[in-house]
Amino acid sequence: MKKIILAVLGVMLLAGCAKQPQTMDNQVINNILTRVSVRQFTGEPITQAQVDTLLRAAMAAPSAVNKQPWAFVVVSDKQIIDRIGEEMPNTRCQNNAPCAIVLCGDLNKALEGEGRDFWVQDVAAATQNLLLAAHSMGLGAVWTGMYPTHRASVAQKILDLPENIVPLAIVPVGYPAEQPAVKEKYNEELIHYNRW
Ligand SMILES: Cc1cc2nc3c(=O)[nH]c(=O)nc-3n(C[C@H](O)[C@H](O)[C@H](O)COP(=O)(O)O)c2cc1C
Repeated sequence: MKKIILAVLGVMLLAGCAKQPQTMDNQVINNILTRVSVRQFTGEPITQAQVDTLLRAAMAAPSAVNKQPWAFVVVSDKQIIDRIGEEMPNTRCQNNAPCAIVLCGDLNKALEGEGRDFWVQDVAAATQNLLLAAHSMGLGAVWTGMYPTHRASVAQKILDLPENIVPLAIVPVGYPAEQPAVKEKYNEELIHYNRW
């Protein structure tokens, strides 16, 4: 009898585990679900190898017709980071960020015709890849928006960007000096199947 009860309990336990979201076993899903925006940094520098990995992840993003219409400016010069933070406090660069990565669209590489603005989605995908890579490496980062606001031209000026290079986002990256709580965003009410 005892054996039967234990066997039933075992099956119930396994069935329960099977129903759990995959987040426990799947590191990629876990990484996606636990990423948060980090806006305060310790100031400790990050290495060139870390920057290379972040950029490799960014450039692995999908892009329309595989145009890869992007360009990146890695800012580690403290004076430039301070200037970005002073002129655009929303970038959080003033909060001890040792590095800021500027993700830009290269309009000379963008599609022509009605697909021209796909560059925005392409660079957005690269930005999200970079944020997820940073999180997986124990680094903190936050997407701060440039294009289509006036900030894009402020950043263009500070960084001497040519006219065809449009900054979509500035992402300060460094070791986190805060541990923000993960926001629960999953909402079944937003999901529709087959028709609205
Ligand atoms: C297009 C875009 C622009 C953003 N701009 C800013 C910004 O200027 N400053 C900032 O602190 N966060 C900015 N964020 C980060 C959002 O505030 C943040 O992602 C949101 O509050 C959800 O929080 P989470 O990233 O921790 O999940 C931006 C995010 C996106 C996608």
